[in-house]
Amino acid sequence: MTPIQAATSAETEAIEEMLTVSGYSKTAINYYINKPHMGQIPDADIISEMTGTCGDTMGIYIKMDNGVVGDAKYQVMGCAGAISAAMAVVDLIKGKDLDFARSIDDGTVYKVLQEIPVKKHHCIQLAVKTLHKALDTHRLQRSA
Ligand code: FES
Repeated sequence: MTPIQAATSAETEAIEEMLTVSGYSKTAINYYINKPHMGQIPDADIISEMTGTCGDTMGIYIKMDNGVVGDAKYQVMGCAGAISAAMAVVDLIKGKDLDFARSIDDGTVYKVLQEIPVKKHHCIQLAVKTLHKALDTHRLQRSA
């Protein structure tokens, strides 16, 4: 199997250009290229997974620290919209309590991303729904 290689700067520039033309803001593009919160947290306290109607899948991993989100990551098998939205969600919830995390909606994430193509707005919904599902499951488990 061929190892995955990092994109060259020329390839990265080509991706940036393509996404800019498609209607992604610089912020959304940076989230997609750098993927600052992509991965898993092995000892996460809250985990959930969701598949969108498009077939893209993502999982969220949240590690709590003294009543607030200490760390969070998303594992995303999906498009640039899904990845940028998921990364933005993590920046929104880190250091915040779960009530604040539950209050995040599509509009909150869209404001952070500033601009993504209209046909990609459902990708934001997938990131938010995955977060909400994780928080709802966690709440149910704690009240059981
Ligand atoms: Fe499926 Fe973006 S196309 S989440």
